[in-house]
Amino acid sequence: DLFGESRKNSAGINIDIESINQPFEEKVQSFLCKQWTKGPIVDGKLLETDDISDINNPFQTSDVIGQIHWSDDEIIQQAIASARDFFPEWNNTPAGNRARALEKLADLLEDNREELVALCHKEAGKTIHDAIDEIREAVDFCRYYAIQAREKFSDVMVMPGPTGESNELRLCGRGVFLCISPWNFPLAIFLGQVTAALAAGNTAIAKPAEQTSLIAARAIELMLEAGVPGQAIQLLPCEGSKAGSALVSHPDIAGVAFTGSTETARLINQTLANRSGPIIPLIAETGGQNAMIVDSTALPEQVVNDVVKSAFGSAGQRCSALRVLYVQEDIADRIIELLQGAMKELVLGDPSQHSTDIGPVIDERARKGLMAHIRRMKKDATLVAECSLTSQTDMGHFVPPTAFEIRTIGQLEKEHFGPILHIIRYKAKELDKVIEEINSTGFGLTLGVHSRNEVTSTRIQQSVHAGNAYINRNQIGAVVGVQPFGGQGLSGTGPKAGGPHYLYRFATEKTLTVNT
Ligand code: NAD
Ligand code: ALA
Repeated sequence: DLFGESRKNSAGINIDIESINQPFEEKVQSFLCKQWTKGPIVDGKLLETDDISDINNPFQTSDVIGQIHWSDDEIIQQAIASARDFFPEWNNTPAGNRARALEKLADLLEDNREELVALCHKEAGKTIHDAIDEIREAVDFCRYYAIQAREKFSDVMVMPGPTGESNELRLCGRGVFLCISPWNFPLAIFLGQVTAALAAGNTAIAKPAEQTSLIAARAIELMLEAGVPGQAIQLLPCEGSKAGSALVSHPDIAGVAFTGSTETARLINQTLANRSGPIIPLIAETGGQNAMIVDSTALPEQVVNDVVKSAFGSAGQRCSALRVLYVQEDIADRIIELLQGAMKELVLGDPSQHSTDIGPVIDERARKGLMAHIRRMKKDATLVAECSLTSQTDMGHFVPPTAFEIRTIGQLEKEHFGPILHIIRYKAKELDKVIEEINSTGFGLTLGVHSRNEVTSTRIQQSVHAGNAYINRNQIGAVVGVQPFGGQGLSGTGPKAGGPHYLYRFATEKTLTVNT
């Protein structure tokens, strides 16, 4: 079972069934008034420092949900030294034992689902469905990488050779892996990186996004409870722009796993290039300028359903989200009319309410940047639809889902990480130009195609540079072990999270030859 095919993905929880939803909702409610105070977790101990910030709820900014103690330099040095010293022991721990701890963590994530959902609402502004999916994906990563660790790291590979000697090849950890994660998947990507590093035999330094450090700290507490030794996993909440380069250039770091923006990946790459000591690998999973191409054979209702999900779901704060919709002009008016109708139905508001489709964006900086883009587009493009803000959304960082018609993808100078869709009409004879235009951005993360003409969809998916192509469906929500996820070019160095080759990226190989 090399690919773990007998494995099952986490079922999550079906809140459409009232008898399941009621106790779930009551328990989530009981956590919504909780305050969380967290900080660095070094050698298994939660630490306090003098540098403390309040954490605010992005839905209602006056609501302080807790405090975070930031790591100071002494704590950073202590955590890395301890992870370095413990590496040989963790690397020599049988892969099956490492895997068991990750499976236990998966169970604990499910047992603590309601608190984690509440934290996802309150720290990350995630809606109920997004929060449930977040935990489901985190559980999937734990179980999937546990299987992969057992299958790939337990036994040596015996190599052929002349008589009189034995030859074997073994996968091992690299050392201390620095894992730097974004806020948009505060549990799933955060734990995905860390569990992959640990499964492969590395010790890990986890640097969560500053916006979602409470969720990260709660996850690490559960990891410790699951039996991962405190020296193997060290949590360092800190501001990336302040402490990031000190972490990346630290001589005891043996590899960096980074998920976040393309700009930050470049900075990290530069820091790594200027670092003295060993040359170490960078795993970078970065942004996208994701397109969907819709030709005249597509089913308009299905297209609009998938466009709304892909562009506005999670308030557009997914690296996979649809940013540019290319529609063949023959059906463009019909698609736009249906889209305008569908956008009127979107409910913006309290992420903890069932009826809410779209929650807030993560913080004021994100809101300001996105609103500036909307203002710019109102001058340079044609407004197609804009959802309304309400007195409730005024309490937090809301950006109204908005759609514009633009002329060319070149009008978008960068990835706009929010609920803003850009639409471009094309003529049937211009398909090659469309493909060229998409590829000219240099990104290569997701691609959507809606066409009932198999020749066309095959041509498109073979020519557009994208790590994940989706035909006749939405283009978000890759499932662990089913749709290995990751891009190319400006979208990253090409690893596939949740895929069968991911752990190799965190490993090194050792050949042993014995004269017998
Ligand atoms: P970001 O680049 O601002 O931050 C990501 C992480 O890097 C944070 O932990 C931050 O503190 C840290 N950081 C910032 N400056 C640093 C520095 N100089 N050195 C070291 N670390 C530093 O990204 P974000 O706003 O948190 O996340 C959104 C971005 O992430 C979007 O561009 C999105 O497309 C991308 N993303 C990509 C994937 C993927 O799988 N390809 C998944 C999720 C998000
Ligand atoms: N893996 C996430 C998705 O596919 C980013 O939406």
